[in-house]
Amino acid sequence: MTATITEPDLFGSSPEPAGADWLGRGEVGIDLEALAEQYDPTPHPYRDAPVDWVHEELGAYMWSKQRAILESVQANRYTAVKSCHDSGKSFTAAQAVCWWLATRPLGEAFAVTTAPTWNQVHAILWREIRKARSRADLPGRTTLDARWYMGGRVIGDEDEQLVAYGRKPSDYDQDGFQGIHAKYVLVVIDEACGVPKLLYDAVDTLATNEHARVLAIGNPDDPGSHFEKVCRPGSGWNVIGVSAFDTPNFTGEDVPDELHDLLLSPTWVDERKRRWGETSPTYVSKVLGEFPDVSDDTLLAPALLRAAQELDLPGNALGQFGADVARMGTDETMVYRNRGGHVRQVYRAAKQDTTVTTGAFAKLCRQHPKVPMQVDAVGVGAGVYDNLRAQGLNVVEYSGGRAAVDAKRFVNKRAEDYWNFREALEAGEVDLPPDSEDEDLVAQLGSIKWALDSKGRIKIESKDDMKKRGLPSPDRADAVVMAFARGGGISLPTAAKDRAKRRGKRRRRSETADLMSKEM
Ligand SMILES: Nc1ncnc2c1ncn2[C@@H]1O[C@H](COP(=O)(O)OP(=O)(O)OP(=O)(O)O)[C@@H](O)[C@H]1O
Ligand SMILES: [Mg+2]
Repeated sequence: MTATITEPDLFGSSPEPAGADWLGRGEVGIDLEALAEQYDPTPHPYRDAPVDWVHEELGAYMWSKQRAILESVQANRYTAVKSCHDSGKSFTAAQAVCWWLATRPLGEAFAVTTAPTWNQVHAILWREIRKARSRADLPGRTTLDARWYMGGRVIGDEDEQLVAYGRKPSDYDQDGFQGIHAKYVLVVIDEACGVPKLLYDAVDTLATNEHARVLAIGNPDDPGSHFEKVCRPGSGWNVIGVSAFDTPNFTGEDVPDELHDLLLSPTWVDERKRRWGETSPTYVSKVLGEFPDVSDDTLLAPALLRAAQELDLPGNALGQFGADVARMGTDETMVYRNRGGHVRQVYRAAKQDTTVTTGAFAKLCRQHPKVPMQVDAVGVGAGVYDNLRAQGLNVVEYSGGRAAVDAKRFVNKRAEDYWNFREALEAGEVDLPPDSEDEDLVAQLGSIKWALDSKGRIKIESKDDMKKRGLPSPDRADAVVMAFARGGGISLPTAAKDRAKRRGKRRRRSETADLMSKEM
């Protein structure tokens, strides 16, 4: 039997083929409806309605800014979301991926997601994608290595198609996106500040047609990032800003109770205000959702700190402890251990009597007799240090106000040690704890400013000056720097010695020339 395929007759005037229904199905063994669809497919009813789709299919209630983000992805080729911490950014991005793939024809839609680290890709965004897919029983399967396959009847079936994947930026080379030729491409860049420009350029080569969409979403913590550029007016991106004060627990927006519990709370914001200070770069980005003003006088740039958080050093050296003893009320007693650049908090206490502090430090020293402990012996720490020394423990007196080894270049030891720490960060020799372990440390390190004095020597902002700027005492930052500082028989590790030598050579053509005219 031969098939006669007639053009679909919209006006109902042409005769029906004998034995077929009005669309011509049945008689000839060819599904004319499917064929017609192929040439002029009826769009999925929710193709342009992400909010309704997410609500009805995934059963998720999106608060107003989340809805605005989804609507922007539908309407704009490029959407950038700079947002405070914990506003539901990654959740929204994951819902967008599900909507995209579920409402476009298989084989024509593809989603690519990226974030600075593999953990952010697979444990955050793809966790949400996997949860949403299984909750709504969406077609296909998602894997633990951040892939989504659709089609095929069994796993590994040759008809199975890869419809989405997540990668970290270093997995992409220049041809990173070659091979993706779908009509509908969605690219999600999570934690967009930490993603390099090269990747944005690669995304541009992928998102060439009018149907493509790019969603870059993140906390605006680095004003030196490419994300900052895309968030500027006139960049061609539709920019959505989310401050903590826009979120339902502040505005009173009516959302389900469980969402109130998941999103930022006023208590969280109050605590951060106290712990970080309203003027700290971390507060500006994590609470206000704005790029902080990080100028040249910021000692440790956000990108430097982020890189150190992402670095993974083995941490198997004996190393040394750095211990800062709290002075009063809100300050903290902190001890960090630096093990070959891998630095982690080992002790923390607040509002603690110095005799208890002495006991705690003594215990640490006894547990690790070969690991010297550098103790801030100025002010309240003096008694603690004296006591530990009297017990014959392996302690070293630290005094930041003493003369620097390189007294021509640094106002005092504190300035020299902070500068050495900055150079160690620049050289990729420092592995800092992630935010989830110690978010206050990076907040403190990122707040510290430096300047040159009238003699052209480097100085670091004092604790008192920081307090005047409304910032808390940088106890954690100081303890970490002490854990890196040499002195009292503690010698520099070889890499640091090499750096010190190199620095000696290039000292006079100082990299600080741009600040020569400035005094604090
Ligand atoms: N509309 C929603 N419905 C249900 N759960 C939600 C919703 N929005 C966010 N969540 C949940 O709230 C938590 C925080 O959301 P998410 O991780 O997306 O925030 P974020 O802004 O990406 O946070 P971060 O600043 O850490 O990157 C997650 O557990 C997420 O599943
Ligand atoms: Mg997130």
